[in-house]
Amino acid sequence: MAILRFLAAAEIIETDLWQQYNELGGIQDSEVPGGSGSPPYKEALSFLDGDMDQYIHDNTEDEISHFTFINAYLASKGADPVNLDQFRTLPSSKATGAQQIGRLTTLMRLTVDTSWWTRYRSRARNPDFGDTFPQAIPSLAVGQHPAIPRSDDDLTPADHIQAIANTAAFHFAFIEQGGTSLYPSLAQRVSSPEVLRILLSIGPTETAHFQTWHDKAGNYKRPLTDPKDPALVFPDLNSPPLGGEDFQTNLIMPEPCPFLDRKFPACSIVRPTQTKRAAMGAVAALTADGLFIRQSREFLEALHELAEKADAARPGED
Ligand SMILES: [Fe+2]
Ligand SMILES: [Fe+2]
Repeated sequence: MAILRFLAAAEIIETDLWQQYNELGGIQDSEVPGGSGSPPYKEALSFLDGDMDQYIHDNTEDEISHFTFINAYLASKGADPVNLDQFRTLPSSKATGAQQIGRLTTLMRLTVDTSWWTRYRSRARNPDFGDTFPQAIPSLAVGQHPAIPRSDDDLTPADHIQAIANTAAFHFAFIEQGGTSLYPSLAQRVSSPEVLRILLSIGPTETAHFQTWHDKAGNYKRPLTDPKDPALVFPDLNSPPLGGEDFQTNLIMPEPCPFLDRKFPACSIVRPTQTKRAAMGAVAALTADGLFIRQSREFLEALHELAEKADAARPGED
């Protein structure tokens, strides 16, 4: 139940950020209501794929279903569902198309860790062995960058809103590779076969999202420098000194890598999957991403407590 409660919180956070993407860049309908779209943002996203709005909508709907299901399951077992509504205090984008409501997360000050790109391309290294990985877009991994237009001022010039769409492209995959690792990491400490089935059934949908976003991120417009933030540079990942196995944009499937022990042959796997402190690791990654900038101390304490309890769960304990 502690693991499910943490996952409910993580899914509520995912839903909050995906809803912000959907209001401006997705499809607003009865399945994913709210907002009315930003045509210049949608056009910039469509550079990645003509169906980006549909994919954003579907990813958002999946996240809504994840937290709603987990909370309903918790309630059916007499456990407390998770509700973070009191912490919806962060402002919405002022761009035309966004709802003006309180948010749990902000997408307007992101520091995007783009090392998932090189991590999934490395044959020799695995984060579970302590290995580290270079950033694909170093300038996105420092500073603070919007992944949605903050106001209508962000809609021009064309290369500026394109840089925001490029940022979103790498952020979509960053979020979903996190879910891809979180579910198998926590599943190793689940005691109930039915809860294990829940984790093993939701987790791979995070991977389905990640695989889609990994493919789309490779289509991003480059080389591109943000005219309103010249420090933000999107390099051509297919040209020297980049390119090759670590960077080439059509290498979107996981490269085999060491697993469990380097004595074994390389294996194509999700990485990382180590279970120790996995929930706190997820909270740390989301915090470093900038999603919770200006959130209250009480929110972070509540999230940390849910993560600590999930990380303390051991098979055989409720
Ligand atoms: Fe999810
Ligand atoms: Fe997700």
